Amino acid sequence: MITEQPPPIRKILVDAPPTVAPGIAPPAGGHAATSGAAHHRRGEAGPERMTLQGLSVFYGENEAVKQVSLSIRLGEVLALIGPSGCGKTTLLRTLNRLTELTAGAQRGGTILLDGTDVDALEVTALRRRVAMVFQQPNPFPMSIFDNVAYALREQSRKRPGRSVLAPLVEDALRRAGLWDEVKDKLDAPALRLSGGQQQRLCIARAIATRPEVLLMDEPCSALDPRSTAVIEQLIGELRSDLAIVIVTHNMQQARRVGDKVAFMYLGDLVEYGPAEQIFDAPQAQRTRDYVRGVFG
Ligand SMILES: Nc1ncnc2c1ncn2[C@@H]1O[C@H](COP(=O)(O)OP(=O)(O)O)[C@@H](O)[C@H]1O
Ligand SMILES: [Mg+2]
Repeated sequence: MITEQPPPIRKILVDAPPTVAPGIAPPAGGHAATSGAAHHRRGEAGPERMTLQGLSVFYGENEAVKQVSLSIRLGEVLALIGPSGCGKTTLLRTLNRLTELTAGAQRGGTILLDGTDVDALEVTALRRRVAMVFQQPNPFPMSIFDNVAYALREQSRKRPGRSVLAPLVEDALRRAGLWDEVKDKLDAPALRLSGGQQQRLCIARAIATRPEVLLMDEPCSALDPRSTAVIEQLIGELRSDLAIVIVTHNMQQARRVGDKVAFMYLGDLVEYGPAEQIFDAPQAQRTRDYVRGVFG
């Protein structure tokens, strides 16, 4: 027998989408995701980090990226796939404004980082918040320690000493899965490391300043299968703290690491969706042909 009335249901009418209360919103500096709440399992993406609205990139007359709109979310790996020359690298480099270093390149559309137009940000600050790892590992010709400390020193107004930097360097190397291999030789030249270790060092350097977004352009294409597996596992672990965009030529890799997959063809974003959709139930004929290997 019910003796008590349930509490009345209050219907709250809203005319705008819900907003996040200031106490919960991630800090602008981008140290967002170290709290427990921001950890995500596969398929549970967090808030939108970057928003691309009608993004186009021209090299002279050639439109390499055509009106692409996409969301990049915390806790999610977005894999960009498509045949060579379809605009993957161009799209990636545009996100942290590297494309503007190319003479003759022009951009249209809007890119937002946490709601702010990237054009309104100071470019080096942007590149710390949206860090990039390239196809060829490119450690600086200095020690392992100094490679990781470099970005931290650059970011800081005072020159932090080694005792201040050491724990931060260690943390970045641990998160990049390299600490155990290098902890006894931090002052050795980075260029003496193997290719796979160099790439993880570059990842450590990129994540040392706690970026919100990590861009990776075919980060494993110069590596052996074992190093590739290590880096793929690392991407899975890093995902909880970051938004990751990875360009890959390798469809198996896109499937292994991608939560979302974007398929590009001749500058167009043909299809975007969960990895399972793109690989198992693609909507567009061109995606179907590409993932089945009809063309490459
Ligand atoms: N620096 C550049 N100057 C002129 N054209 C370029 C430049 N970089 C790329 N392109 C052209 O833009 C298109 C997309 O290239 P890219 O973004 O490198 O594709 P992907 O990474 O998918 O192979 C291609 O037609 C390529 O020739
Ligand atoms: Mg490329």
